Amino acid sequence: MTKKGFIFDLDGVIVDTAKYHFLAWKNLANSIGVDFSEEQNEHLKGVSRKRSLEKILDWGNKTLSEEEFNRLMGLKNEDYLSHINQMDASEILPDIEKTLDFLIDKEQGLALGSASKNAKPILKKVALLHKFDAIVDGNDVSKAKPDPEVFLNAAKLLGVAPKDCIVFEDSVAGIQAANTAHMLSIGIGQKSVLHEADYIFNDFTEISESFLLDIISNRVHKK
Ligand code: BG6
Ligand code: MG
Repeated sequence: MTKKGFIFDLDGVIVDTAKYHFLAWKNLANSIGVDFSEEQNEHLKGVSRKRSLEKILDWGNKTLSEEEFNRLMGLKNEDYLSHINQMDASEILPDIEKTLDFLIDKEQGLALGSASKNAKPILKKVALLHKFDAIVDGNDVSKAKPDPEVFLNAAKLLGVAPKDCIVFEDSVAGIQAANTAHMLSIGIGQKSVLHEADYIFNDFTEISESFLLDIISNRVHKK
């Protein structure tokens, strides 16, 4: 069996934290008089904290001093962490552990490829950190998704060529990053949002072991 590199996004793929990012950004946006919808939130998924606030300010036609900008990023993160602190393993999304264990059993490379600077503490909190061979998070990259840097770094750490990597993502920016890196892109979420992905599933309960084996045996290709 060949060794592939399976790269997982964190928020909205491994754990159900996308909803906490949404709540914290909505609070923050509303506090400065900017409306914030679920549809706008789709454009923030996978996007770094800094870039997210820049987009919110653009939508609201606001400019801020650097000091105020940094203060608001801090407030958003405090709000977000207040939710994260309550979190436990029950917020691991369905069949994630089963999938990770199956791939480990098949001796595949497993990496995290996340924009979040909170990735390691979250993985520790839900007791999944030890399952990954490599972690690339928001502290390690200079260019945010849709730039492929995060996934290319993960491939390098796994020692697997990008064309032999598979990315699981719930964000449009992440799917674009995977496609630019010439990796197999698997969207987790709605078809209407993630249509640029090679394959799309609602969640991991729909991803069978035989599909994973087909990927490992080169029977699944980019579209
Ligand atoms: C991504 C999320 O995983 O991480 C984004 O999809 C978030 O919503 C980004 O803004 C950065 O996360 P953090 O934890 O560093 O603020
Ligand atoms: Mg995500």
